[in-house]
Amino acid sequence: MYSVLFYPFNSRYLRPRLWRIIGCKVGKNAYIGYDVAIDVINSSYIELEDNVSIANHALLLCHLRDLSNYCVGDEYMDLGYRYGKIHIKHGATVGMKAIILPGVTIGRGAIVGAGSLVTKDVPDWAIVAGNPAKVIKVLKERLNEQDV
Ligand SMILES: CC(C)(COP(=O)(O)OP(=O)(O)OC[C@H]1O[C@@H](n2cnc3c(N)ncnc32)[C@H](O)[C@@H]1OP(=O)(O)O)[C@@H](O)C(=O)NCCC(=O)NCCS
Repeated sequence: MYSVLFYPFNSRYLRPRLWRIIGCKVGKNAYIGYDVAIDVINSSYIELEDNVSIANHALLLCHLRDLSNYCVGDEYMDLGYRYGKIHIKHGATVGMKAIILPGVTIGRGAIVGAGSLVTKDVPDWAIVAGNPAKVIKVLKERLNEQDV
């Protein structure tokens, strides 16, 4: 399956194409792992820029029930939905089994740790982890060789 001969049929290369067909915006050289779940009926809310990597079993969720007017006695199942775009910027990485909630932007070069639940935007070049995900590291500028 990984032979160059079968390159076009390798699912690692096929998945980004399938995501585009169902309406997601997917940039060049995106890696989408095995069993990544998305909101298929809200796929137009998903945008992956170039060189994004999403590891196996991650979940990108673009809708939630709208709780803004949910009161005692109401039926949860009668509530409408709230939608939000998921935007994963150039070179960002989503770890295995991470969950990204609606409306979240993951910054340029950022990393989401395995198993994290991302409820808020992730800044560029930050590493977030945990539930809810928090910034655990902010990457530094590379020093010039003459500065070392
Ligand atoms: C988040 C991650 C990038 C951090 O890597 P790192 O910068 O080397 O971080 P460290 O291992 O130094 O850990 C820093 C702290 O974050 C915690 N941490 C690391 N990963 C975590 C995670 N996924 N969830 C919660 N906490 C995490 C560590 O326990 C440590 O906590 P402490 O400071 O209290 O001891 C990495 O652990 C991770 O989850 N990578 C994704 C792996 C993955 O899904 N790979 C897919 C392969 S295709």
